[in-house]
Parts: sequence; structure tokens; C-alpha cells
Amino acid sequence: MKEKIEILKKEIENFAVATADELEAMRIKYLSKKGEIAALFSDFKNVSNNDKRSVGQLLNELKDLAQQRYNILKESFSGNKKNDDDLDLTRTAEPISIGARHPISLVKNEIIDIFSRIGFVIAEGPEIEDDWNVFGALNFAPEHPARDMQDTFFIEKSPDVLLRTHTSSVQTRTMMTQQPPIRVLCPGRVYRNEAISYRAHCFFHQVEGLYIDKNVSFADLKQVLLYFAKEMFGEQTQIRLRPSYFPFTEPSAEMDISCNLCGGQGCPFCKYTGWVEILGCGMVDTNVLKNCEIDPEIYSGYAFGLGVERITNLKFQVKDLRMFSENDVRFLQQFQVVAN
Ligand code: DAH
Repeated sequence: MKEKIEILKKEIENFAVATADELEAMRIKYLSKKGEIAALFSDFKNVSNNDKRSVGQLLNELKDLAQQRYNILKESFSGNKKNDDDLDLTRTAEPISIGARHPISLVKNEIIDIFSRIGFVIAEGPEIEDDWNVFGALNFAPEHPARDMQDTFFIEKSPDVLLRTHTSSVQTRTMMTQQPPIRVLCPGRVYRNEAISYRAHCFFHQVEGLYIDKNVSFADLKQVLLYFAKEMFGEQTQIRLRPSYFPFTEPSAEMDISCNLCGGQGCPFCKYTGWVEILGCGMVDTNVLKNCEIDPEIYSGYAFGLGVERITNLKFQVKDLRMFSENDVRFLQQFQVVAN
């Protein structure tokens, strides 16, 4: 019996496996109930009483050795397998998909692109503003309702620290620091104290345009806006200007384009009028020029402001404004490829 134990001990110490099957064969050979070690244990009853103690010890050592060897081989074997298959267990189970640009960014970039082709350059200003840049310089009367808490977010208790309600504030800043000719485009986020619904949000995006030079006329404004509408919505697009009112422009207008869904025939989207409104515009009011220290006797200019969400809705028919800020990847993934 002692000899047999010695032989098995050597065998087990030198045992090597290359595959999972071989490892399992080893377990069956030595460690299973019908294995060699179990057989020795059942022969144990035949060992003479004198030897029982020493043989019993050897047998137990052999069993422990076999179990340890099995464990070591199993561990090294599973390690090898990982390297062999190049299996990285730390990787996420789902494939990581490529991100898409946000529809608002796509449309904003397209607007910038269209106007930069005719010489407009980007101007930026802060989102946290003061009364002068947002209202005062832009000819808002002291009691104008836009200055009310219900429309404007004021920061701290001061009536002079507020979130800009429109990007027209960048007009002020540009005219206060630059001399004409000025031809700028001001994209940015704006804030209004609105109840959030499918058609209104407390923040959204605008692009403001401003051109100041000698002899700038309303005809120039109209031509530039027609160019923009055709570039953005296609060559067949028509525009119309309706008289309107803004404190900072005189005269003021709102511009509609022929409905790009029905081509002007009339549909639910354009409420069967054939037209959809896309922006406000006008000739810069002489009071605004004076406020910003530009001589209205020498210079004139036009301005326009458009809502990026509005244009995006027209282009992609997004019916609920809230989708833009919910970060739902199922919504965002749809914009991976841009039409037009
Ligand atoms: N600031 C206006 C708004 O937020 C938009 C606007 C209208 C901008 C007419 C202009 C303009 O520059 O001329 O509703």
C-alpha cells in the first residue's frame, strides 16, 4: 500500500493538463468516488493494525496533494484560456455605440455655415447678463413687461443680474466695443420664465444677426433672409414679411417661409395657411445705435433673431420641445445622419 501511495504521489506531482477535458479526466482518475485514491481508502481496512496509523496519514496527505494539484491546474488552465481567446472579462456586455450630434447643434452649425458664407463672423456674450445689455440699451421702456419677474429669471436679489432672455444682448456688447462695419452672428442659449410644455421651455437657443454699415437698407435685409431661407429649406422656398413690433428695431417685421411640409398648399402643420413663421427682424432703431455710441447720421443697420428649436422642428418635425433636453438616446440617435 505504501508503495502504491508513493507511485501515485509522483504521478500527481508531475501531472499536466492542456485542455478542460484532460483536467476533468484527472479529477475522475484521482479524486472521484471511483478514483484511485478512493480505491486505496476502501483497501485501508486490509492494512494491518500496526501500519494503520502511518498509512492513514500518508493516504490523507495524498488526497490533499491531489486536491491541491487539481486546484492549481484548474486555475492556471483557466488563466491560459483567457489569454488564448483574448477574452476581456472587464468589457461591457453591450457594444458601445457611436454618439450623434444633438439636433440643436446640427441646425445651429448649419445656420452658422450659411451666414458665414456671406461674411458673418461669430460673436459671443455671457448668459448671465445685466439689465443694460438685455433691455436698457435695446430701447425697452423702464416698465416693459419683459422686465417683469414673470418673464425673466433674476439671479440673486438684484434686479441687475439676470439670465439673458434673448441673444440680442450680444448686439449691444458688440456695438459697444466695435466700430462699423459690423457683421456678426450670435448663437447662444437664452432663458425665460415659462411653464414647461410641449411648445415652451425655460431655456432654448437663438441665433442673432446684426449688420451695421453705411447705407444699409431694408432691401439688403430682405435679400439676405431670402438667401438664408433658400439655403436652409431648399431653392423652392418663398418668404413673406409681416409688419411687427420690437423695441430695438424700426421698422420691425416677422418673416414666414412657405410651409416646407406641404410646399405652401396648406396642411395641419401650417394650419392650412401655407406659411410658417421663422424669425423676427428689422432695421436697428436709431435709439439703439445712439445708446451704443454709433452715429445714426452716418450708419444704419439691420438685425434679425431666429429660434434654433423652431428651425429644427421645421426641418425634423419634432413635435415636443422637451425632447431636446431629455437626453433620450433613442431620440438622439435618429440624427446620426443629417438630411439636406
Ligand atoms: N430678440 C427677439 C426675441 O427674442 C428676436 C428678434 C427680433 C431679434 C427682431 C432681432 C430682431 O434682432 O430684429 O424674440
